[in-house]
Amino acid sequence: MNLCSLILLALGLCATSSLASCTNEKVVYCFWGTWATYRQGDGQFNVEDLNTELCTHISYTFFGIDVNGFMKSLDPWLDLPDGRDYLRKFSAIKERNPDIKRIFAVGGFNEGSEKYSVMAANKTLRTNFINSTLQMVLDYDVDGMELDWEFPNARDTVHGEEDIDNFTQLLKELREAFDEYGLSLTAAVSAVEASASQYYDVKGISQYLDYINVMTYDLHGPWDNVTGYNAALHKGEGDEDEPKESLFTVDVAIDYWINSGAPPSKLLLGVPFYGHSFKLEDASKHGLKSNTTGPGISGPYTLTPGHVGYNEFCVMLQTEDWNVEHDHKARVPYAYKDLDWVSFDDPHSIRLKAEYARKRNLAGVMLWSIETDDFRAKCGSEDFPMLRAINRGLGREVPPPTATTTVIGTSPPTTTVEN
Ligand SMILES: *[C@@H]1O[C@H](CO)[C@@H](O)[C@H](O)[C@H]1NC(C)=O
Ligand SMILES: *[C@@H]1O[C@H](CO)[C@@H](O)[C@H](O)[C@H]1NC(C)=O
Ligand SMILES: *[C@@H]1O[C@H](CO)[C@@H](O)[C@H](O)[C@H]1NC(C)=O
Ligand SMILES: *[C@@H]1O[C@H](CO)[C@@H](O)[C@H](O)[C@H]1NC(C)=O
Ligand SMILES: *[C@@H]1O[C@H](CO)[C@@H](O)[C@H](O)[C@H]1NC(C)=O
Repeated sequence: MNLCSLILLALGLCATSSLASCTNEKVVYCFWGTWATYRQGDGQFNVEDLNTELCTHISYTFFGIDVNGFMKSLDPWLDLPDGRDYLRKFSAIKERNPDIKRIFAVGGFNEGSEKYSVMAANKTLRTNFINSTLQMVLDYDVDGMELDWEFPNARDTVHGEEDIDNFTQLLKELREAFDEYGLSLTAAVSAVEASASQYYDVKGISQYLDYINVMTYDLHGPWDNVTGYNAALHKGEGDEDEPKESLFTVDVAIDYWINSGAPPSKLLLGVPFYGHSFKLEDASKHGLKSNTTGPGISGPYTLTPGHVGYNEFCVMLQTEDWNVEHDHKARVPYAYKDLDWVSFDDPHSIRLKAEYARKRNLAGVMLWSIETDDFRAKCGSEDFPMLRAINRGLGREVPPPTATTTVIGTSPPTTTVEN
C-alpha cells in the first residue's frame, strides 16, 4: 500500500472512485542531464539535488558506445570512483526511496546515428552491446536501460532503411537478455509522423519496450525561420485554416503513435522543461508565424542561443519587462520583448499536458530534463514546480516542498481528481 492509499484510508474515502486513480500509479519519467553539475551558480545541479519522490523513474544521461559496440562512459571523471563517483551515487538514491527506478541511458543526440547503425547491423557488435549494457546495469545494481538512438535511418546513418528492422531486432534481443533479470527497457523516439514513420516499425518496437518516451517537443524552433511553439498541445490560434493532421502538435503526434499500434499503456508523453528563443525580424510582428532571423536569447547557465531553461526564463520573466501571451487553443504561453520571442512551458501548461496524458490513458509523462526545473524555488514558493505540476496533472500525491519558504493557500489539494 502506498502513502496515497493510506491517506485516503485515513480520510475514509476508500469507497470512492478516488482510490482507483490513486493506486493506478502513473509514471513520471525524469531525464537527468548529468553535465549540469558543471553549470555555474544556481544552475549547478548535483546528484544530491535529484528529487526521488516526484519522479518514479530517473534516467542518467548519457553513455556512449565504442566502435565495437561496447557501452562506455562519456565522462569517466564524473562517472567513476577516481573522480566524482556519480554512477555509484546514482545507484544509491534507492536508499532515499526504495521504489525509485534508476535507468542508464545510452545514446542521445550528440552520439549521432552512425555507430548505432553499424552496431545494430552486425551480430557480433550487437552481442557486445547487449552484453556490456547488461553488465553495466548489473554491476551498478540499477533497474534498467534506456536506448536513445537518434535516429535509425536518419542523420549520419550507415545502413539507411535497414536500420528500421535492425533496431527492432536489437530491441528483441535486449528484451530477452534483460528479461532474465527482470530489468526495464525503454527508448526515446521522435514524435511526429513525418519523421517517426521513416525511423520505426512502431508495432515491432512497441512489443519489446516497457515504455516508449515520445519526444513531443522541439516541434518548432528557430530553425523554422518563423515563430512557432516548442510543444503545442493542440493546434494554435494562428492555425485555424490548417488541417489538424498537417500540424506538429502533441495531440497529433500521440494520435500517430496510438494509431500505428503502440499501446497507450506504454506511451509516455514527453514535456520540455525549457523553451526555444527566436529573434524577430520586426518587433511589431510578434504573433505566431512571424518572421524571425535566427536563435534568440540564451540563459545564464545553459548558455545556448535558441534555448532557455525554465529555471532561467522564470527569473527573466520576473525581473525583465516581457509581454506574456497565452494561446488558449494551443494551451501554451509565449513571451516577447523588443526583438526577442520565446516559446516556453510553465507549470500551468505542463499540468494541462499531464491531464491530457491521463485522459488518453497513457502510462504517464516523461520530461526533459529535471535540472532545468526551478529546483531552487527562485520563482515561487515551491521547489520543482514543473515536476509538481506533472504529478498533480496525473493525479499523483504531491509531497510538500523541501524549500524553506512557504506560501499559504496556493497549492491545489493533492488527492482530488478533476476531469
Ligand atoms: C539488418 O537489416 C537487414 C535488412 O532488413 C537484414 O538483411 C540484416 O540481416 C539485418 N542485420 C542483422 C544483423 O540482423
Ligand atoms: C562485424 O564486426 C566484426 C568486428 O568488428 C567484424 O570482424 C565483422 O567483419 C563484421 N561483420 C560484418 C558482416 O560486417
Ligand atoms: C556475454 O556474451 C557471452 C557470449 O558471447 C556469454 O557467454 C556471456 O554470458 C555474456 N555475458 C552477459 C553478462 O550476458
Ligand atoms: C531558414 O533560412 C535559412 C537561411 O536563409 C535557410 O537555409 C533554411 O532553409 C530556412 N529554413 C526553413 C525551414 O525554411
Ligand atoms: C516573411 O518572410 C518572407 C520570406 O522571406 C517574405 O516573403 C514575407 O513578406 C515576410 N513577411 C512579412 C510580414 O514581413
